[in-house]
Amino acid sequence: MVAVDRTSSRADPASSLHTLAGGLRAARSAGASAAPAVGAALFVRPELRPRGLVTMPRFPGDLLDPARSHGEVLLHIAADRQATVKTAVDRLLASAPEWRVRWRADGFRSDNREEGGRGLARNPFHFTEGFGNPGTERETADRVLVRADQIEPAWAVGGSYQVVRIIRLATELWDTDPVEEQERIIGRRREGGWLDGTPDGEQPNLAADPDGNLTPLDSHVRLAAPDRRNPPPIVRRSYSYDRGNGDTGLIFSCFQRDLAKGFESVQKRLEGETMAKYLLTVGGGYFFVPPPGDAWIDAAFA
Ligand code: HEM
Repeated sequence: MVAVDRTSSRADPASSLHTLAGGLRAARSAGASAAPAVGAALFVRPELRPRGLVTMPRFPGDLLDPARSHGEVLLHIAADRQATVKTAVDRLLASAPEWRVRWRADGFRSDNREEGGRGLARNPFHFTEGFGNPGTERETADRVLVRADQIEPAWAVGGSYQVVRIIRLATELWDTDPVEEQERIIGRRREGGWLDGTPDGEQPNLAADPDGNLTPLDSHVRLAAPDRRNPPPIVRRSYSYDRGNGDTGLIFSCFQRDLAKGFESVQKRLEGETMAKYLLTVGGGYFFVPPPGDAWIDAAFA
């Protein structure tokens, strides 16, 4: 993920974004996927800004480093090989000279695979992530894409709010805890099974464990998704990072059509979770992924 700003804040956002769109095509010609997401700072006319799009607030415990936070545009470049990503980013930046890099987070997905329609990967705490995501395209679209009946600017329909959180993980401290303790903190087995024995693809009966004897009440999954029939309307797709010198963690990323009902309500419930003492959020931002094509540029920055 590469966050960029215009070199001059007086530059016309629409023409700068058209140049960037050309850079994204150059990145795709290298064999990578490349998508933009816009930040609140780019908007001149408030009525054309997606309603929930603000500068990401500081949540309790956050220590946001300005050199790793926010940005006018977030570029999400992905490929199966690191070398492809590098070529794609080089081509992109070379063809968009009026943009400068604000911050950059290089990530990877260990043991990346698909199962039951869900993308799974292993995070730096050795747990498999992705089970809580929907297994069908229809349900994914339902959680993620802004609909015409929402009160949003017309150009934003079919787009999505993206939240990125750069979360440093105390992996050394975590690794001193026994695996069973780690599993009680997350609320699932490392491989995804539930603590009451329910297999990973099925729903556990948490109502049968009201005191949290099997799955603790302050475990991550129990706080994140307390009502198994109404899962939080977000779709997560995070990457691991490792910058050396013990600076490892998660480039947490999630998509939703409503920030307040999505990320923000889950984040609020997670305050005070047992896992909190192993986490430090140092960067990230709020962005909006426009619908496909380039027509949104002139509509949003008319
Ligand atoms: C670095 C910190 C984090 C770690 C290590 C982590 C790890 C995990 C793991 C292992 C699972 C269970 C497997 C799965 O369903 O994917 C999970 C589930 C989940 N996490 Fe996190 N997570 C982190 C941060 C967050 C944040 C910041 C949020 C949102 C504010 C979040 C929201 C969720 C949700 C909604 C679920 C699915 C719960 C369910 O439907 O069962 N997580 N997380």
